[in-house]
Amino acid sequence: MSKIAVIGSNMVDLVTYIDRMPAQGETLEAPGFAMGCGGKGANQAVAAAKLGAQVLMLSKVGDDLFADNTLANFQRYGIDTRHVQRVAGVPSGVAPIFVQADSHNSILIVKGANAHLLPADIDAAAADLRDCGLIVLQLEINLATVYHAIEFGRRHAIPVLLNPAPALKGLSGENLAQLDFLIPNETELALITGLPVTGPESALVAAKTLVASGIKHLIVTLGEQGALYVGEQGEWRTAGLPVKAIDTTGAGDAFIGCFIHHWSQTRDIRAAMQKAVAYSACSVTGRGTQSSYPNAVAFAEFQKHITPQ
Ligand code: RIB
Repeated sequence: MSKIAVIGSNMVDLVTYIDRMPAQGETLEAPGFAMGCGGKGANQAVAAAKLGAQVLMLSKVGDDLFADNTLANFQRYGIDTRHVQRVAGVPSGVAPIFVQADSHNSILIVKGANAHLLPADIDAAAADLRDCGLIVLQLEINLATVYHAIEFGRRHAIPVLLNPAPALKGLSGENLAQLDFLIPNETELALITGLPVTGPESALVAAKTLVASGIKHLIVTLGEQGALYVGEQGEWRTAGLPVKAIDTTGAGDAFIGCFIHHWSQTRDIRAAMQKAVAYSACSVTGRGTQSSYPNAVAFAEFQKHITPQ
């Protein structure tokens, strides 16, 4: 089984469960709080590792107690942390998250040490990265580092997947065109293409324009409506699964983590998307981000009880 390299963020999720957002100047009691390990890069790495993938993580933690916990968390799931380094005098990344009773969330991120993951760190890890069969990226680290990693993958014939989250304007078309996989959600796709995306039909139109620019495989995650593929293998939609969602935080990361694990094992994009839609659906039935990701045994159990739409 080839290793997956995740080059990205880690955060401490500070999750407050709320009935509603307070108005300006208002103090409001909230029904619950939980702290957990998060960050889009770390979430994707942990989801893949929980399912059995071998993961190499490139990330930066701060100079605080959060850092020890994040490192221990990676190690708990067997993730290779030789390239997760501490940055002196800098706090770890944190993410205050607000989850409403209807399961939807609002997230703030404070990058902290994540902003110190630099192109030179990729070069320093080159020997280990060359052993990997896939490089996975998101946008919670510096864009220069993301572009350097894309270029590294292209130079060494390692497939590269970018999850362009959180949504960012002005991504370089030249760099995106070098990707093997781009996996945006609807908001991110709209921002990248400048086209309106409000469901599967408009997502298809926008996705086609991006594929025409050179990306091999574009997968749009559509939340409860599943996911859409457009690329070298044609186009199709993977249906969503009806579940009772209680917390959607990190559902996109669950999709990516599961997709990279199954694609790395089988190279079957369609089958990996089906697994990823199911894994993501399972994750929204639990609270938190990584804490809601099932391991392989729990995921197999969940799949016995689901009926595709
Ligand atoms: O995608 C969910 C993640 O976004 C959270 O874990 C939070 O840390 C932010 O990075």
